[in-house]
Amino acid sequence: MKKGKENGVKVEVPRIFPKGLKIFIIGGGRACKALLETIMGDASMEVLGLAEINPEAEALPLARQLGIPIFEDYRVVLDMPQVDLILNLTGDKALEEELRDLLKKRGRQTEILGGLGGRLLWGVLGRKDYLAWTDPLTGLFNVAYFYRALEEEIERGMRYGSPFALLFMDADNFKDINDRLGHLQGDRVLKAIGDAVASSLRSADIAVRYGGDEFTAILPETQVEGAVKVAERVRKKVEGLGDSLGVSPLSLSIGVAVFPLDGVTAEELVRRADWAMYQAKKMGGNRVFRLGVGKEPPAFFRVEDALSLVSQKGEKDKFHRSHSEVVSKFSVEIGKALGLNRAMVRLLRVAGALHDIGKAEVSFGEGAWDYKEHPLIGAYMLRHVPYLRGIVPMVLYHHERYDGKGFPKGLMGKQIPQGAQVVLLADKLHHFLEHEPQWRVGDLLKALDEAEKDVGAVDPQMIEAFREALKSRPQDQLLLAF
Ligand SMILES: [Fe+2]
Ligand SMILES: [Fe+2]
Repeated sequence: MKKGKENGVKVEVPRIFPKGLKIFIIGGGRACKALLETIMGDASMEVLGLAEINPEAEALPLARQLGIPIFEDYRVVLDMPQVDLILNLTGDKALEEELRDLLKKRGRQTEILGGLGGRLLWGVLGRKDYLAWTDPLTGLFNVAYFYRALEEEIERGMRYGSPFALLFMDADNFKDINDRLGHLQGDRVLKAIGDAVASSLRSADIAVRYGGDEFTAILPETQVEGAVKVAERVRKKVEGLGDSLGVSPLSLSIGVAVFPLDGVTAEELVRRADWAMYQAKKMGGNRVFRLGVGKEPPAFFRVEDALSLVSQKGEKDKFHRSHSEVVSKFSVEIGKALGLNRAMVRLLRVAGALHDIGKAEVSFGEGAWDYKEHPLIGAYMLRHVPYLRGIVPMVLYHHERYDGKGFPKGLMGKQIPQGAQVVLLADKLHHFLEHEPQWRVGDLLKALDEAEKDVGAVDPQMIEAFREALKSRPQDQLLLAF
């Protein structure tokens, strides 16, 4: 894994193989040469040796250049216990069988890939970079590539003083299109937006599908006016797409940020471009916006920062600390009662702790914020933290109600992510128990009866499942004490 880290934006570059796969290659011909060329400079793979009997074989000069030890007899691999994978590129089946036998006798588990397997691996490796950096639906670059390119652009900017711009683009009515016409049509629309973005940019620009219906672009050597011009071109093109695809209205909200005026780190630039996009959306969408100087978007955090913020707040205000702790604890209990898997329960633990992070006392710039915006602000704070993306829907929708009367979107029934309903129920339970010094399973059951009186807030099946699970436990079992 290659990691880039910039004030909390941690970039995990995906790789097909786990770090440090150690290979031994048999056969130094053309296939070997091509393979070495492909994996050159790739820290996730290490060639520990190459066996080739012909001193004129094609791959040998490159192997020497790369410092790979060359052997005449492939049996040396038997004395190399650190090798994970033997790759037989000779096509000699008998050799493979012999090696397999010898390895077995020595109790070694080393894999041997030959024949079709070897060719397949070579084919995969050849396409590896392409696959790792692109989005399969649109063919644009993916988010991993985006952060890598952004870091490179920043480095260039720092060194040579060259400006560049960042665009964040989000389809305004994509959810409607998906709901109305289905996901297949939705994918067609995303592909068309991707094409429109790519064809409106210049050849040096980098077009990226950030995820879902979000796109970004890096525009090298571009200042504010140039960036706004390009963004307008993209906006117009997508506006015109709706009719031709029969999905009108279709439009983009675009946020613009420029280096170095709006920031000199990936985190600052992404945050400002993203927040500008959100403002464009709030103004009704289908527009390009750049955040004015002095206007600060909310910060987003690493999970450690977020948790420490929550607990710092707790020292000042007991209710809030206990609120996030309790909602976290109850969310886990509910998740287990629903039979959710461990990964999901783990997400619930964090979502419960951070669900009200949008209320945290961070600098939001001027103006008061509406209470109803806290789920949205929380989601914005968390969504660029790669390993917290899973909790974003839970935070964003934790005030949606099963009857459709919640906020911010008014989602209804099963449209609401299950995790968000879990957090809402946990939140409600705490409100009925907040003045008690300690709670037992029986207290939770009583609180559940109270929560149920707010008909339409939480999925009744969820309440029922939780009740059943609580009933089967010792009623005086202590859950939490303060
Ligand atoms: Fe909340
Ligand atoms: Fe809450």
